[in-house]
Amino acid sequence: MAGLELKKDFPVFGQKIHGHPLVYLDSGASAQKPRHVIDALTRFYETDYANIHRGVHDLSMRATDAYDRARGVVQKFIGAAHEDEIIFTRGATESINLVAATWGHENLREGDEIVLTQLEHHANIVPWQMLRAQTGCVLRVVPIQSNGDVLLEDVLAALNAKTKLVSVAHVSNALGTVLPVEEIIKAAHDKGIPVLLDGSQAVSHRSVDVQKLDADFYVFSGHKIYGPTGIGVLYGKRAILRDMPPYQGGGDMIASVTFEETIYQEPPMRFEAGTPPIAQVVGLAAALDYVSSIGMDKIAAHEDALLAYATQVIGEMKGVRLIGTAPRKAGILSFVMDGIHPHDIGTILDSHGIAIRAGHHCAQPAMEALGLAATVRASLGLYNDEADINALAVGLFKVQGIFG
Ligand code: ALA
Repeated sequence: MAGLELKKDFPVFGQKIHGHPLVYLDSGASAQKPRHVIDALTRFYETDYANIHRGVHDLSMRATDAYDRARGVVQKFIGAAHEDEIIFTRGATESINLVAATWGHENLREGDEIVLTQLEHHANIVPWQMLRAQTGCVLRVVPIQSNGDVLLEDVLAALNAKTKLVSVAHVSNALGTVLPVEEIIKAAHDKGIPVLLDGSQAVSHRSVDVQKLDADFYVFSGHKIYGPTGIGVLYGKRAILRDMPPYQGGGDMIASVTFEETIYQEPPMRFEAGTPPIAQVVGLAAALDYVSSIGMDKIAAHEDALLAYATQVIGEMKGVRLIGTAPRKAGILSFVMDGIHPHDIGTILDSHGIAIRAGHHCAQPAMEALGLAATVRASLGLYNDEADINALAVGLFKVQGIFG
C-alpha cells in the first residue's frame, strides 16, 4: 500500500523523539500542522495583521478580507448553502455550548427530551446536562453495542413526541465508529426533530456535505483538521440561526447600542462577540485549502486502507484486544492489552518515539458501557503510513517484553 507521502509537508517530522523518528498516532487528540498552515500564519502576522471590521486603515482591511474569505472557504468545504451559516467559535466544544445556551434555552422546557448516544464525547454530554439543570429537560441515551456500534433501530426507539433534538457524534472519538447519521437525520426529520452532528472526528477523515446530510447543526474544531487551536466552526441552517438569541454580548455582534436597547446583528455576526481569533481563522482556511488540494476522497481512501491494515496487524497480536469493531469505522484503533495498563503502554511507546493517547478519551460513559476504565488509542492522520503501524506493533512487542 503506497502512503500519501505527506510527512515532508509537516516540519514536526524533522525531529527525533527520545532518539527515534516520530511516529505520530494521536491526530484524534490534535493533528500536526503542515508548513502551508504555519507559513500562512507567519505571513499573516508579519504582513497583514490588525483587528477586523473596525479599521479604515489598510492592514485592518487586509485582515478583514482574509477573515471574511475564510468563511467562504469553510462554507465550500462542508457544502453549506450560505456563507452566513458558518459561525466561528473557539472549537467544537464551544459550538455545542453555543447551541445549548441559545437554541436550547429558547426551545427546551421541562420534560422535553434530547437524544444522545452512549459513545458521545463529554463535549456533547455536559452542555446538555447544564441545560437540563436550567430547564428540567430530559437526556435520553441510546445504548451502544459491545462492538461499539450504534444501531439505527435503537436511535429510532428513543425518538418520541417529546424529543426536541438529536445530538450525536458523526464519528466516535474513542472507538472510531461511524454512526448511521444519514438515516438518523432522515428519521428525526420525519418527526420534525432537528439534528446536531458533532463532526470533530469526521471532517478530517471524510468529505462532509452538510446539505446532503441535511444536518441542522454541524460542529468541528480546527486543530483536528491540521489548523490552529482556538478555532472551531458551528454550521447551522440559516432559518434556525436567524431565530436564535445571541450567545455572548459585546462588540461586533450589535447593529446599534443605547442604554435602553440593543439591536443585534444578523447571523453570523450575532454569535461572534468581541475580537475573534483572527489569525486562527486565517490558519483554518489555510488548513482546509491544504486538505482540499490533496482531496478528501483520496485522504479517506488512504486512511481507510491504513486502518484496515492496522486492524489486522494489531488485532492479530497475542494479548491484544481491539475495542470498537463496528462495521463502519474511521481513523481510530482503540485496544487494551492483557494485564498492562494503557498509561504504561503509552509511556513505553513514547520512549520509542511513538505518540498515542491512553485513557478514557473524554468519553467515560462509553468506556463504562464497555466495562473499561481506559484504552490505548492510535488515531490516524493523512501523514501516517504502514511503517507507522509496523513501528507501533514492534513497540507493543517491546511493551509485552517488559511486562513479561
Ligand atoms: N477530543 C480529543 C480526543 O479525542 C481531545 O482526544
